[in-house]
Amino acid sequence: MERTFAMIKPDGVRRGLTPEILARIARKGYRVVGLKQMVIARETAENHYAEHRERPFFGELVDFITGGPVVALALEGENAIAGWRAMMGATNPANAAPGTIRADFATTTGENVTHGSDSPGSAQRELALFFHDGELLA
Ligand code: GTP
Ligand code: MG
Repeated sequence: MERTFAMIKPDGVRRGLTPEILARIARKGYRVVGLKQMVIARETAENHYAEHRERPFFGELVDFITGGPVVALALEGENAIAGWRAMMGATNPANAAPGTIRADFATTTGENVTHGSDSPGSAQRELALFFHDGELLA
């Protein structure tokens, strides 16, 4: 069974969308094997988004993701990595299909409510960055 790292970003938490997003995850059938609300340390954020270090929006991205509590999630299910990405929709909410989280709840790329790992390699890396083994259900 595949595991992925998901996150409700500070905009989603601040706007009270946590229960709505957890309900969508439950209805889909993913098992929540890890969950914590936390403020991300700057170093962790820079590590998490290391692939974007040279992009012009990197500073803004790190400021945003560390600017308030997030909900970090470990999700388990058949094809969970691609499946959770599909539930989120396109990075830019303007391009996201109706019914996806970003289409339904976001208007800008900079504040697009959720994160999801984009490959098995990033899922493994990001799960290890945010959770100790003992924090996850077996
Ligand atoms: P994540 O699940 O958050 O990684 O989104 P993604 O995989 O759909 O997009 P990507 O990894 O390419 O970009 C990571 C995040 O950087 C996006 O979700 C946005 O929040 C942010 N981002 C990407 N492009 C821009 C941009 O042009 N401007 C700003 N402000 N933020 C951007
Ligand atoms: Mg990404």
